[in-house]
Formats: sequence, C-alpha cells, structure tokens
Amino acid sequence: MKKIVILTGAGISAESGIKTFRDSGGLWENHPIEDVATPEGFTRNPHLVYSFYNERRKQASLVNPNKAHKALSDLEKTYGNNLTLITQNVDDLHERSGHKNLYHMHGELNKVRCTNCENITLWKKDLEATSLCSHCVEVGYMRPHIVWFGEMPFYMDFIEEKLRQCDIFCAIGTSAHVYPAAGFVDIVTYYNPQAQTVEINLEASKQASHFKETIYGKATECVPLWVDKQIKGKIAP
Ligand code: OAD
Repeated sequence: MKKIVILTGAGISAESGIKTFRDSGGLWENHPIEDVATPEGFTRNPHLVYSFYNERRKQASLVNPNKAHKALSDLEKTYGNNLTLITQNVDDLHERSGHKNLYHMHGELNKVRCTNCENITLWKKDLEATSLCSHCVEVGYMRPHIVWFGEMPFYMDFIEEKLRQCDIFCAIGTSAHVYPAAGFVDIVTYYNPQAQTVEINLEASKQASHFKETIYGKATECVPLWVDKQIKGKIAP
C-alpha cells in the first residue's frame, strides 16, 4: 500500500469557524506575534499570553469538525498506519472527527506544560499565573503547550522519517509561511522524486510551485473529493 503523509494548517479549520493566522481579519492582524507567540512575550506579559490562549481554547471548544476533517479520518480507516497526519493546528478538530493517530507539531490548546518539571497535562479550563502543577505541586511554572516562534516544533525526527518514506504528500490549508513545515514538500521530493505532491488550499501558497499538483477551493469541498480518489486508488499490499 502506498504511504501517505498529510500536513494540515489553519485553512482546514476555517470553515468550522476558527480564524486562520494570515488571512484578512486573521489572528496575527490584531495580536502582535512577538507579544503572544514568543517566549520573550510570555516573560514580558504572561497575563496577556494566558488570556490569548484561554480565549482560543474556549473558542475551539465551541466549534465542530467539518467535512474535510471527517474525510481525513475516513482515509485513516482505509490506510491505517500507512497514513501519517501532521498538523500545525493546535485545535482538536481532527481528534473530534474520529482521527486516531496524529502529530500536533505546534502543540495543543488542550494541554499545558510545567516549565519546572516538564510534565504535560490535559487542560480544558483557563490557565493562570496561579495555576498549580499537579505533578510537582509548584505554582507559577505553567505555560500553554504551544510551540512559539524561536522554539523547536515537536516530533521533528519522526516527521522527517515519514517524509523520506512517503509516496504521496498532501498539504492542506496552509500558507507555507512558517518553516520547517513549509519545507516538507522539498524533503519529500528530494528523497523520492517520483512522489506525488499535492497542495489543497483556497489560493496558491508560497510553496505552490514546488508541488506537482495543486487544487484550489474550499477544504470542505476539495478534501472529500481528493480523499475519495485515494480510497478508490488504494493499492493492496
Ligand atoms: P495561515 O493563516 O498562514 O494560512 C492559512 C491558509 O489557509 C491560507 O493560505 C488560506 O488561503 C487557506 N484557507 C483559508 N480558508 C480556507 C478554506 N476554507 N479551505 C482551504 N484553505 C483555506 O495558517 P498556517 O499556514 O496554518 O504557528 O500557519 C502556520 C503557522 O503559522 C501556524 O501553525 C501558527 C502560525 O504562526 C504557530 O503559532 C507556531
């Protein structure tokens, strides 16, 4: 069976009602990145950073997965371990659509981390400077489990191995402004020049010319159609 790697970005959750980062009215328009998405911003004004992610956690809990998330979870049912889903998104819409195995390379809104003992905990309520770590029982060390600018994304060794081995790479709903994710298509092509590379997005991303195939339109319309093709074209082991 062919091996598929899928990378998703904010565009896949847009039709569920979660703002993207760089579209008009996107999150980075009203929130300076250096204030809410850097370790330095957190040191300067932790309250602002806690509020920003508390608001996003609350908002993500109020929306539902859409047809694009659901189509990818159907693809997983067919391809099993031959499908690797990597998401830059910090919402849990893939999980709530039934997807079992995925890698949040930029972290998760529903997790927090203690910088004293490095314990990671599921967290659905608001996070405050006074929040207690249930593991080391210290106060004042908890932070959102989110990768900020200047920090290393999670699972990079594992992701690189999957990219080197894949036959099909599909990037969905990402503007390709942020590395290392923006460079994944080049890793795939470098190790396997025959690999099929596909971009599905509302418009051409910064890396569009690096893909062999581009499909432009809404994720809820294009992803189910593309998934259908992969399910029909599945090659038995
Ligand atoms: P962006 O906001 O940069 O890009 C979202 C992309 O989705 C754009 O290219 C849109 O055209 C596209 N889009 C919008 N609506 C869509 C729809 N209904 N269907 C299909 N595509 C749609 O978001 P990302 O590329 O995910 O990182 O951003 C990457 C990273 O930058 C994020 O993970 C975040 C941010 O800074 C961190 O916070 C570490």
